[in-house]
Amino acid sequence: LARGVPARDLTGRHVVVSAGGTREPLDPVRYLGNRSSGRQGYALAATAAARGARVTLVAANTALPDPGGVTVVPVGTARQLREAVLKAAPDADAVVMAAAVADFRPAHYASGKIKKRDGQDPEPVALVRNPDVLAEVAAERARPGQVVVGFAAETDDVLAAGRAKLARKGCDLLVVNEVGEDRTFGSPDNEAVVLAADGGSTPVPHGPKEALADTVWDLVAARLGQGAP
Ligand code: CTP
Ligand code: CA
Repeated sequence: LARGVPARDLTGRHVVVSAGGTREPLDPVRYLGNRSSGRQGYALAATAAARGARVTLVAANTALPDPGGVTVVPVGTARQLREAVLKAAPDADAVVMAAAVADFRPAHYASGKIKKRDGQDPEPVALVRNPDVLAEVAAERARPGQVVVGFAAETDDVLAAGRAKLARKGCDLLVVNEVGEDRTFGSPDNEAVVLAADGGSTPVPHGPKEALADTVWDLVAARLGQGAP
Protein backbone atom coordinates (compact mmCIF):
# COMPACT_ATOMS: atom_id res chain seq x y z
CA LEU A 1 0.00 0.00 0.00
CA ALA A 2 1.39 3.40 -0.95
CA ARG A 3 2.13 5.46 2.13
CA GLY A 4 0.63 8.92 2.26
CA VAL A 5 -2.50 7.80 0.35
CA PRO A 6 -4.18 5.62 2.94
CA ALA A 7 -6.97 3.41 1.68
CA ARG A 8 -9.90 3.53 4.09
CA ASP A 9 -9.91 -0.28 4.05
CA LEU A 10 -10.35 -0.61 7.83
CA THR A 11 -13.50 1.52 7.94
CA GLY A 12 -16.06 -0.01 10.30
CA ARG A 13 -13.41 -2.21 11.94
CA HIS A 14 -12.33 -2.06 15.58
CA VAL A 15 -8.71 -2.92 16.28
CA VAL A 16 -6.92 -3.29 19.60
CA VAL A 17 -3.20 -2.53 19.72
CA SER A 18 -0.93 -2.94 22.75
CA ALA A 19 2.23 -0.84 22.94
CA GLY A 20 5.14 -0.08 25.23
CA GLY A 21 6.63 -2.22 27.94
CA THR A 22 5.16 -3.40 31.19
CA ARG A 23 6.75 -2.61 34.56
CA GLU A 24 6.54 -5.01 37.46
CA PRO A 25 6.96 -3.28 40.81
CA LEU A 26 9.36 -4.51 43.50
CA ASP A 27 8.61 -1.74 45.97
CA PRO A 28 7.09 1.75 45.71
CA VAL A 29 10.13 3.12 43.85
CA ARG A 30 11.51 0.19 41.81
CA TYR A 31 10.35 -2.10 39.05
CA LEU A 32 11.50 -4.72 36.57
CA GLY A 33 11.06 -3.27 33.10
CA ASN A 34 12.28 -3.45 29.53
CA ARG A 35 13.47 -1.14 26.78
CA SER A 36 10.37 -0.98 24.61
CA SER A 37 9.56 2.64 23.69
CA GLY A 38 6.08 1.99 22.32
CA ARG A 39 6.89 3.55 18.95
CA GLN A 40 5.96 0.50 16.86
CA GLY A 41 2.62 0.14 18.67
CA TYR A 42 1.89 3.85 18.27
CA ALA A 43 2.71 3.62 14.56
CA LEU A 44 0.27 0.70 14.27
CA ALA A 45 -2.44 2.68 16.05
CA ALA A 46 -1.91 5.81 13.95
CA THR A 47 -1.86 3.93 10.62
CA ALA A 48 -4.98 1.91 11.53
CA ALA A 49 -6.82 5.14 12.38
CA ALA A 50 -5.66 6.67 9.08
CA ARG A 51 -7.13 3.62 7.30
CA GLY A 52 -10.50 4.20 8.95
CA ALA A 53 -10.42 1.85 11.95
CA ARG A 54 -11.70 2.58 15.41
CA VAL A 55 -8.60 1.99 17.53
CA THR A 56 -8.11 1.06 21.18
CA LEU A 57 -4.47 1.56 22.13
CA VAL A 58 -3.43 -0.15 25.38
CA ALA A 59 -0.29 1.77 26.28
CA ALA A 60 2.15 0.44 28.86
CA ASN A 61 4.45 3.11 30.29
CA THR A 62 4.94 5.10 27.12
CA ALA A 63 6.08 8.71 26.84
CA LEU A 64 4.76 9.51 23.38
CA PRO A 65 2.07 11.94 22.18
CA ASP A 66 -1.37 10.32 21.80
CA PRO A 67 -2.09 9.51 18.17
CA GLY A 68 -5.15 11.49 17.10
CA GLY A 69 -8.51 9.76 16.90
CA VAL A 70 -7.48 6.80 19.04
CA THR A 71 -8.75 5.68 22.46
CA VAL A 72 -5.72 5.32 24.74
CA VAL A 73 -5.92 3.05 27.79
CA PRO A 74 -2.83 3.52 29.98
CA VAL A 75 -1.58 0.50 31.95
CA GLY A 76 1.45 -0.34 34.10
CA THR A 77 1.86 -4.05 34.77
CA ALA A 78 1.35 -7.17 32.64
CA ARG A 79 -1.74 -8.02 34.65
CA GLN A 80 -3.24 -4.58 34.03
CA LEU A 81 -2.41 -4.91 30.34
CA ARG A 82 -4.11 -8.31 30.25
CA GLU A 83 -7.25 -6.87 31.84
CA ALA A 84 -7.40 -3.94 29.39
CA VAL A 85 -6.77 -6.11 26.31
CA LEU A 86 -9.30 -8.79 27.35
CA LYS A 87 -11.87 -6.10 28.04
CA ALA A 88 -11.51 -4.61 24.54
CA ALA A 89 -10.95 -7.88 22.60
CA PRO A 90 -14.54 -9.25 22.48
CA ASP A 91 -15.51 -6.34 20.27
CA ALA A 92 -12.34 -6.34 18.13
CA ASP A 93 -11.83 -7.47 14.52
CA ALA A 94 -8.08 -7.62 15.16
CA VAL A 95 -5.78 -7.65 18.18
CA VAL A 96 -2.14 -6.69 17.65
CA MET A 97 0.19 -7.31 20.57
CA ALA A 98 3.15 -4.99 19.98
CA ALA A 99 3.78 -4.47 23.70
CA ALA A 100 6.78 -6.03 25.42
CA VAL A 101 5.06 -7.89 28.23
CA ALA A 102 7.20 -8.95 31.19
CA ASP A 103 7.37 -12.74 31.37
CA PHE A 104 7.97 -12.63 35.12
CA ARG A 105 7.09 -10.38 38.02
CA PRO A 106 8.52 -10.24 41.54
CA ALA A 107 6.79 -12.85 43.68
CA HIS A 108 6.53 -10.35 46.53
CA TYR A 109 5.85 -6.64 46.54
CA ALA A 110 7.42 -4.71 49.42
CA SER A 111 4.98 -2.01 50.50
CA GLY A 112 7.87 -0.03 51.98
CA LYS A 113 11.11 0.85 50.17
CA ILE A 114 13.65 -1.99 50.33
CA LYS A 115 16.68 -0.79 52.35
CA LYS A 116 20.25 -2.04 52.35
CA ARG A 117 21.71 -3.14 55.68
CA ASP A 118 25.36 -2.85 56.71
CA GLY A 119 27.25 -6.10 56.28
CA GLN A 120 24.29 -7.98 54.80
CA ASP A 121 24.02 -9.44 51.31
CA PRO A 122 20.92 -8.42 49.34
CA GLU A 123 17.95 -10.77 49.30
CA PRO A 124 17.54 -12.55 45.95
CA VAL A 125 14.46 -11.45 44.02
CA ALA A 126 12.04 -14.36 43.58
CA LEU A 127 10.00 -14.21 40.35
CA VAL A 128 6.73 -15.77 39.21
CA ARG A 129 5.29 -16.15 35.69
CA ASN A 130 2.95 -13.56 34.25
CA PRO A 131 -0.06 -14.59 32.15
CA ASP A 132 0.58 -14.90 28.39
CA VAL A 133 -1.90 -12.38 26.99
CA LEU A 134 -1.29 -13.16 23.31
CA ALA A 135 -1.74 -16.91 23.77
CA GLU A 136 -4.92 -16.27 25.74
CA VAL A 137 -6.40 -13.90 23.13
CA ALA A 138 -5.49 -16.35 20.32
CA ALA A 139 -7.04 -19.31 22.17
CA GLU A 140 -10.24 -17.45 22.98
CA ARG A 141 -10.98 -15.78 19.60
CA ALA A 142 -13.68 -13.67 21.17
CA ARG A 143 -15.14 -13.04 17.70
CA PRO A 144 -15.26 -15.42 14.71
CA GLY A 145 -12.69 -14.38 12.12
CA GLN A 146 -10.82 -12.19 14.57
CA VAL A 147 -7.20 -11.73 13.43
CA VAL A 148 -4.55 -12.03 16.15
CA VAL A 149 -1.04 -10.67 15.62
CA GLY A 150 2.04 -11.06 17.82
CA PHE A 151 5.50 -9.54 17.78
CA ALA A 152 8.75 -11.30 18.59
CA ALA A 153 12.18 -9.85 19.12
CA GLU A 154 14.79 -12.55 18.67
CA THR A 155 18.58 -12.58 18.76
CA ASP A 156 19.76 -15.81 17.08
CA ASP A 157 18.23 -18.07 14.45
CA VAL A 158 15.49 -15.50 14.15
CA LEU A 159 13.26 -17.27 11.60
CA ALA A 160 13.31 -20.70 13.24
CA ALA A 161 12.55 -19.13 16.59
CA GLY A 162 9.75 -17.12 14.97
CA ARG A 163 8.11 -20.16 13.34
CA ALA A 164 8.19 -22.06 16.62
CA LYS A 165 6.76 -19.10 18.49
CA LEU A 166 3.96 -18.55 15.94
CA ALA A 167 2.85 -22.16 16.41
CA ARG A 168 3.15 -22.01 20.19
CA LYS A 169 1.15 -18.80 20.49
CA GLY A 170 -1.60 -19.84 18.07
CA CYS A 171 -1.77 -16.41 16.43
CA ASP A 172 -2.40 -15.69 12.72
CA LEU A 173 0.62 -13.47 12.13
CA LEU A 174 3.90 -12.98 13.94
CA VAL A 175 6.15 -10.00 13.22
CA VAL A 176 9.69 -11.13 13.88
CA ASN A 177 12.57 -8.74 14.23
CA GLU A 178 16.17 -9.21 15.11
CA VAL A 179 17.36 -7.21 18.09
CA GLY A 180 20.78 -6.28 19.32
CA GLU A 181 22.45 -3.64 21.45
CA ASP A 182 21.51 -0.70 19.24
CA ARG A 183 18.76 -2.16 17.06
CA THR A 184 15.01 -1.73 17.15
CA PHE A 185 14.40 -0.43 20.68
CA GLY A 186 13.60 3.27 20.67
CA SER A 187 14.64 3.55 17.03
CA PRO A 188 12.34 5.19 14.47
CA ASP A 189 13.13 2.39 12.01
CA ASN A 190 12.52 -1.31 11.95
CA GLU A 191 13.22 -4.32 9.74
CA ALA A 192 11.22 -7.49 10.06
CA VAL A 193 9.68 -10.60 8.57
CA VAL A 194 5.96 -11.20 9.05
CA LEU A 195 5.28 -14.94 9.36
CA ALA A 196 1.77 -16.26 8.79
CA ALA A 197 0.12 -19.35 10.25
CA ASP A 198 -0.81 -20.42 6.69
CA GLY A 199 2.91 -20.66 5.88
CA GLY A 200 3.29 -17.22 4.32
CA SER A 201 6.30 -15.02 4.93
CA THR A 202 6.51 -11.31 4.10
CA PRO A 203 9.87 -9.56 4.41
CA VAL A 204 9.70 -5.88 5.37
CA PRO A 205 12.86 -3.97 4.42
CA HIS A 206 14.57 -1.58 6.80
CA GLY A 207 12.40 1.51 7.05
CA PRO A 208 10.10 3.59 9.23
CA LYS A 209 7.89 1.82 11.77
CA GLU A 210 4.87 3.25 9.90
CA ALA A 211 5.83 1.20 6.81
CA LEU A 212 5.97 -2.00 8.85
CA ALA A 213 2.64 -1.01 10.43
CA ASP A 214 1.04 -0.60 6.99
CA THR A 215 2.32 -4.03 5.93
CA VAL A 216 0.77 -5.55 9.06
CA TRP A 217 -2.57 -3.87 8.31
CA ASP A 218 -2.40 -5.02 4.64
CA LEU A 219 -2.05 -8.61 5.88
CA VAL A 220 -4.77 -8.15 8.50
CA ALA A 221 -7.16 -6.54 5.98
CA ALA A 222 -6.61 -9.44 3.55
CA ARG A 223 -7.55 -11.89 6.33
CA LEU A 224 -10.62 -9.89 7.33
CA GLY A 225 -11.57 -10.26 3.69
CA GLN A 226 -14.81 -9.11 2.17
CA GLY A 227 -16.88 -9.95 5.27
CA ALA A 228 -19.09 -7.08 6.34
CA PRO A 229 -17.58 -5.05 9.18
N1 CTP B 1 3.29 -11.68 25.14
C1 CTP B 1 2.13 -11.65 25.89
N2 CTP B 1 2.18 -11.96 27.22
C2 CTP B 1 3.34 -12.33 27.80
C3 CTP B 1 4.53 -12.37 27.04
C4 CTP B 1 4.46 -12.03 25.70
O1 CTP B 1 1.08 -11.32 25.36
N3 CTP B 1 3.35 -12.64 29.09
C5 CTP B 1 3.20 -11.36 23.70
C6 CTP B 1 4.00 -10.13 23.26
O2 CTP B 1 3.19 -8.99 23.30
C7 CTP B 1 4.38 -10.50 21.84
C8 CTP B 1 4.46 -12.00 21.84
O3 CTP B 1 3.74 -12.44 23.00
O4 CTP B 1 3.39 -10.12 20.92
C9 CTP B 1 5.80 -12.61 21.84
O5 CTP B 1 6.53 -12.14 22.94
P1 CTP B 1 7.91 -12.83 23.29
O6 CTP B 1 8.47 -12.23 24.52
O7 CTP B 1 8.75 -12.82 22.04
O8 CTP B 1 7.43 -14.34 23.52
P2 CTP B 1 7.55 -15.31 24.76
O9 CTP B 1 6.51 -16.36 24.57
O10 CTP B 1 7.48 -14.55 26.03
O11 CTP B 1 8.94 -16.00 24.55
P3 CTP B 1 10.41 -15.65 25.11
O12 CTP B 1 10.69 -16.73 26.08
O13 CTP B 1 11.27 -15.70 23.86
O14 CTP B 1 10.40 -14.28 25.73
CA1 CA C 1 8.89 -12.80 26.58
